[in-house]
Amino acid sequence: MLRNTWISALMVIVACPSGAQAPATPAASKVATAAPSTTTTPVQRADSTPKGKLKNPYKDSNKAIVDAGAKLFGGASCSGCHGGTGGGGICPPLANGVWIYGGDDDTLFRLITYGSQTLLSRGYIRTGLENVVAPMPAMGGAIATDDDLWRILTFIRAQYHGPAECKFGCPAEGGGR
Ligand code: HEC
Repeated sequence: MLRNTWISALMVIVACPSGAQAPATPAASKVATAAPSTTTTPVQRADSTPKGKLKNPYKDSNKAIVDAGAKLFGGASCSGCHGGTGGGGICPPLANGVWIYGGDDDTLFRLITYGSQTLLSRGYIRTGLENVVAPMPAMGGAIATDDDLWRILTFIRAQYHGPAECKFGCPAEGGGR
């Protein structure tokens, strides 16, 4: 609890950027679908999948998916905060070897979908600190389907230029959950 208070205080100091906090994503009803689809929203997918089980079906060697992800990354206004190639703008970089909550598919899918406040409220901890410490808004409502979010994540994987062993979460930092 003390730690959370401390983190909240920090976040007030570093606003990133001002007024861009998206409204909390409403809890979606549970659905039980398996493969990525054109009808399941990111919130539905995350809500209906046990923690640790969300897995990107795409590899970042798939150029068509990476290109599609790049467009979605811009369209969902991720680039406004993170820079056009995820290298960091006024918000933390996505392409370096530092992962705030973990670099695995499951954690990143949930962070992007629910936002950082919800993650923190569910017991996730900031294990890695970037140059900017601020809340990540819930973006699940701005991305049409879980498939779109996997494409965005594939694009992010393709931009990665940190140490190879940290691509999906640094072992030493407890990443790769
Ligand atoms: C309003 C600014 C803003 C927008 C828009 C935004 N983000 Fe973020 N993002 C952040 C902040 C701030 C953090 C750090 C969160 C923290 O420290 O808790 C973050 C963290 C992340 C991380 C984890 C980075 C790490 O090093 O662990 C990923 C991945 C990410 N965002 C992806 C996205 C994607 C994809 C989108 C678009 C769908 C997006 N973000 C839109 C502000 C934003």
